[in-house]
Amino acid sequence: MSEPHRAQPSAGTAPDALLARLLGEIGRLLGGEAEFARPFLAALPREPFHRQPGDGEAFLPVLRDWSDCLARAPKEQAALAPVAEVLAALSPFLRWRQNPNYRVSPPDPGFLDGYGYSEIAGPYGLVAAGIRCGVLLLGPHIFYPAHRHPAEEIYIPLTFGDWQRGEAEIAVGGWTERPAGAVIHHPPKAPHAMRAGEQALAALYLWRGDLATEARLDVAGKAMPS
Ligand SMILES: [Fe+2]
Repeated sequence: MSEPHRAQPSAGTAPDALLARLLGEIGRLLGGEAEFARPFLAALPREPFHRQPGDGEAFLPVLRDWSDCLARAPKEQAALAPVAEVLAALSPFLRWRQNPNYRVSPPDPGFLDGYGYSEIAGPYGLVAAGIRCGVLLLGPHIFYPAHRHPAEEIYIPLTFGDWQRGEAEIAVGGWTERPAGAVIHHPPKAPHAMRAGEQALAALYLWRGDLATEARLDVAGKAMPS
């Protein structure tokens, strides 16, 4: 594995107005959803924000696919146009991370080249929060195998991809194609997996509960299934 990318000089501070628009859009996407979404919605930070530098790098290799995902999101789901637009405007200010557990032991040799996430609100985010909220990016053909964490989680894909949720689906190797704009709920410690097809996969994520314990793979080094 190559040395971690060094942090680039900051592009400046993301304007509060952009962050408020993004968090407002995420709230709107969650607003019509089931009971499980309500505590996430209630925990989204609101102005005045407690700003922090944000942890991570200005660039990771997977960012080669970022603009493609932002361009595809509103084409796949028109309701995502505002969130894609504000993410594009925030792009120069985002910091990108990789789960330290995967940096030490990636699931396959190509994984870290096509994986990263940017935390926007939360302990590592641009805005302090009692939840973690950001965006995950997987490059084309990247398989993110079964993993779990104690935090409860919601994903909102910005582009379509294949998802696995729960022991039963993972055990039989089944996949469910989730469209852009879907709301996917993972209870604490529920295993889940995803894979990108010919095109990259981007998804908003939200965590609540145990924010400190990072995800761990169920089986380290698991190969891409045929
Ligand atoms: Fe997760």
